[in-house]
Amino acid sequence: MQRVSLADDIYWVGAIDWDIRDFHGYSTPRGSTYNSYLIVDDKVCVVDGVRAGFGPEMLRRIRGCCDNRAVDYFVVNHVEMDHTGSLPWLIEQLAPGKIVTSKRGQEALVQHFGPEECERWDILAVGTGDEISLGRYTLSFLEAPMLHWPDSMFTYIKEPHVLLPNDAFGQHLAGSRRFADQMDMNLVMEEAVTYFANILMPFAGQIAKMIQKVIDMGLEIDILGPSHGVVWRRREDIDAIIEAYAAWARFEARPCVCLLYDTMWQSTEKMAKAIADGVAQEDVEVVVLRLGRTPLAQVARHIQESRAFLVGSPTLNNGMLPTVGALLTYIKGLRPKSRLTGAFGSAGWGGGGVKEIDATLRSMNLEVLEPLEYRYVPSEEQLLACEDYGRRVAARVKEWVR
Ligand code: FEO
Repeated sequence: MQRVSLADDIYWVGAIDWDIRDFHGYSTPRGSTYNSYLIVDDKVCVVDGVRAGFGPEMLRRIRGCCDNRAVDYFVVNHVEMDHTGSLPWLIEQLAPGKIVTSKRGQEALVQHFGPEECERWDILAVGTGDEISLGRYTLSFLEAPMLHWPDSMFTYIKEPHVLLPNDAFGQHLAGSRRFADQMDMNLVMEEAVTYFANILMPFAGQIAKMIQKVIDMGLEIDILGPSHGVVWRRREDIDAIIEAYAAWARFEARPCVCLLYDTMWQSTEKMAKAIADGVAQEDVEVVVLRLGRTPLAQVARHIQESRAFLVGSPTLNNGMLPTVGALLTYIKGLRPKSRLTGAFGSAGWGGGGVKEIDATLRSMNLEVLEPLEYRYVPSEEQLLACEDYGRRVAARVKEWVR
């Protein structure tokens, strides 16, 4: 099999999932990879595993890099099943001397695979600052709780300055290229921000602290190998993705308004388009996305990137449309901050949809505009009022940018 080398005797030995299109609700049109790494030194070490079913691919890559040498350590940076689904099978095949994980990782392994199975494994729990010498190379561990699970941990290979931070800095992106500098960087960054928005947005505070901690520790990073997507190895790319993470964690955004809506008889749609026109009249970028036709993962990306997002729905059975309810449930869990938002829509008689959206947005500690609601089909005058609403939103966005 193709050998992919990150540094002298350090290899990528993961698996490529060309087919996956839904990652627990996160749509992944470009597939993904489960990245594992192999260090062949006096001792042999594997860092992270792969999803169930991908073990044989990983095993073949390992064998292709170190023949049948015994594996001394298998590091589990994170116990989520996309990295451990194949772990019992891989342990059977490789018989590693020790399984190395964080203290919370040890608990999570037991909770995933059961005490009897874990009893058979020699688990070594490590914490921040603990080290393991492999010979030429030394592994150093850094706990990263809630990035994005309590067990999450980074592994740093000190001498070649290789940081393996598991899910952080990843992208759901399958392909034959393993390094960011071999790819179209716009595509890589689009997948990186989509990943951040959907997986890491709720933990933005912890990310900002972790980046500061890594800076304070003076950790030199020449290669940054996440557990999904491509590896960062060019100086400017490593700096760019770390700076991007710091900016996303601060909820910095483009001066852009994102309009998210669904519609029953096109009245709410007419309102969305009139508001969008008003925003554009102020020379502010606007993105219009119809719910139910746009994957929520893409909606989350736009919210991450845009200063404002407005949510529109007609009324169905005294409430919002189910597609709009699904959006708000998803977004509420992601806990965006520093966003201007508001509700709009058309209702037949009693209303309720806009009120429900407005109440949900207000429960999210965001800056919420007064809602805009009309009855049945909006008149020309009302559409002009929608345009005016859009101009006012755009003015607030421009003000915020200054
Ligand atoms: Fe890639 Fe949290 O697993």
